[in-house]
Amino acid sequence: MINDKKVLFSGMQATGNLTLGNYLGALKNWVTLSDEYECFYSVVDMHSITVRQDPATLRKRARALLTLYIAAGLDPKKNCIYYQSHVSGHAELAWILNCFTYMGELSRMTQFKDKSAKHADNINAGLFTYPVLMAADILLYQADVVPVGIDQMQHLELTRDIATRFNNIYGDVFTIPEAYIGKVGAKIMSLQEPSKKMSKSDENPNGSIYLMDDPDTIMRKCKRAVTDSEACIAYREEQPGLKNLLDIYCACTGRTTEEALREFEGKGYGDLKMAVGEAVVSVLKPLQDEVARLEKDKAYIDSIIKENAEKASYFANKTLRKVQRKVGFPDRIR
Ligand code: TYM
Repeated sequence: MINDKKVLFSGMQATGNLTLGNYLGALKNWVTLSDEYECFYSVVDMHSITVRQDPATLRKRARALLTLYIAAGLDPKKNCIYYQSHVSGHAELAWILNCFTYMGELSRMTQFKDKSAKHADNINAGLFTYPVLMAADILLYQADVVPVGIDQMQHLELTRDIATRFNNIYGDVFTIPEAYIGKVGAKIMSLQEPSKKMSKSDENPNGSIYLMDDPDTIMRKCKRAVTDSEACIAYREEQPGLKNLLDIYCACTGRTTEEALREFEGKGYGDLKMAVGEAVVSVLKPLQDEVARLEKDKAYIDSIIKENAEKASYFANKTLRKVQRKVGFPDRIR
């Protein structure tokens, strides 16, 4: 607890172009939950270098992501919005947790398997221990709740296992975190291959709506979305393309699936695609305008970066010192 509130932690990688999936599966929920919890929202730039990055591009994207957090409605005076690399406690705790995590556990992670298949020429140790750094992110702030999309559930389960293992040896050190998965939008699928999740690393740009896509591009991608030949608007597993469009529509408009189905009764796929495109534009356009406005205010963003890195470090160090003591590191001499 901090200030009598439960703690929330979440993060996003500053790699690739963020998609509508990142927004609907994570960022949108972060904003909804931000009043209820004491929140830490990190731009996880240390995770990003598990895949080779161009330094200038990474720096630019990290800043754009931090700005996006604020543009989406997270008040940086109330929510701690910061770069992971500015708080050294993440790396220090990750090292300790590495010594409490088994090779077998890490080998089972589906993201590791997927990414090592994709980057066969660079299967580095960081890619393998990526989930341990993620566990350190969460446990460092004693987070009670972690809002993520479904694809991160396996990493969260591992975090809980590591924390429980540590607590069993050393007493109650870590809060065991719970995942928060939103009711709609927890798994937005590709518009071109609706059996695959919408992803920033998709080679086909028509499969993903990027957060910075202009309205014409968004409308075009929605119109081209893959559906089926049933010619009937329904919400069922057998029609994955349609189900995904309805999910996107509901997540963007706040309608329930039943309301959406009623609205499109007797209408064609073309009508649905148009409505989805318009709903997405109405969510993303104001976000893009706000990013553009904030980007101009360099001094303001700089002040947030500085203040919040200090705030995050303060809380991170509290946990870190406790953990270091528990495992037997010598006390610091003041
Ligand atoms: P990342 O950067 O891949 O994704 C950020 C968030 O977006 C969600 N997401 C989706 N949700 C719904 N539909 C999709 N198609 C979709 N694609 C992505 C993800 O589930 C995630 O919530 N390892 C994490 C970042 C991280 C983290 C953490 C998250 C590092 N440390 C600690 C939570 C807590 C990642 O790569 O997310």
